Amino acid sequence: MNAIVSVTSDWGIGNEGRLLVRNKDDMRRFVDLTMGGAVLMGRSTFESFPGGALKGRRNVVLTRQDGYAAEGIETYSQADEAIAALASEDPDRVWLIGGETVYHELLPHCTRAYVTKNDVALPADAFFPNLDEDPHWQIEETLEGGITKAGIPFEYVTYRNLRKMS
Ligand SMILES: NC(=O)c1ccc[n+]([C@@H]2O[C@H](COP(=O)([O-])OP(=O)(O)OC[C@H]3O[C@@H](n4cnc5c(N)ncnc54)[C@H](OP(=O)(O)O)[C@@H]3O)[C@@H](O)[C@H]2O)c1
Repeated sequence: MNAIVSVTSDWGIGNEGRLLVRNKDDMRRFVDLTMGGAVLMGRSTFESFPGGALKGRRNVVLTRQDGYAAEGIETYSQADEAIAALASEDPDRVWLIGGETVYHELLPHCTRAYVTKNDVALPADAFFPNLDEDPHWQIEETLEGGITKAGIPFEYVTYRNLRKMS
């Protein structure tokens, strides 16, 4: 499993339930990387999607609510159960897509984290762990991104989880 996330300069990922940066190139990359695979997410992130389940992908949602259901998703009340259910998938095509709670819980299970780094400071109430300060994570690749419509420079940084080195 790999994580994919978009962060601001202090690793902010959201505010009041919304994403912080509008970045069309990054959205396209998210679709390209995840299409055809499985996406694992918390219930709040699922409910933030305007169109419901993400098309062309297996949508797996964590919730502790009994009987929670929506079209196009499967639900699990425990992270371990969701991970077991995803064991049949190609691990490189299973994506942890947020939000804050689920990232913090399940990041140690991820082999890589695909981080879009937006060079901007914005008010946030949800954060991703700062991988630059975590000795278990090492930068594997940095790709040039570009500049968003609002003028925010960004780059794509892939981190490797050293605990998952084979
Ligand atoms: N920048 C990015 O790339 C990115 C990506 C995704 C999300 N976000 C942001 O992240 C924020 C949302 O994060 P969040 O932490 O509030 O929500 P979240 O992680 O999406 O969802 C939290 C919910 O997931 C369920 N859950 C979590 N762990 C569970 C477990 N072990 N077992 C069963 N259910 C579990 C619970 O649902 P129930 O309450 O139903 O039990 C919990 O309330 C938003 O601001 C969003 O915009 C940013």
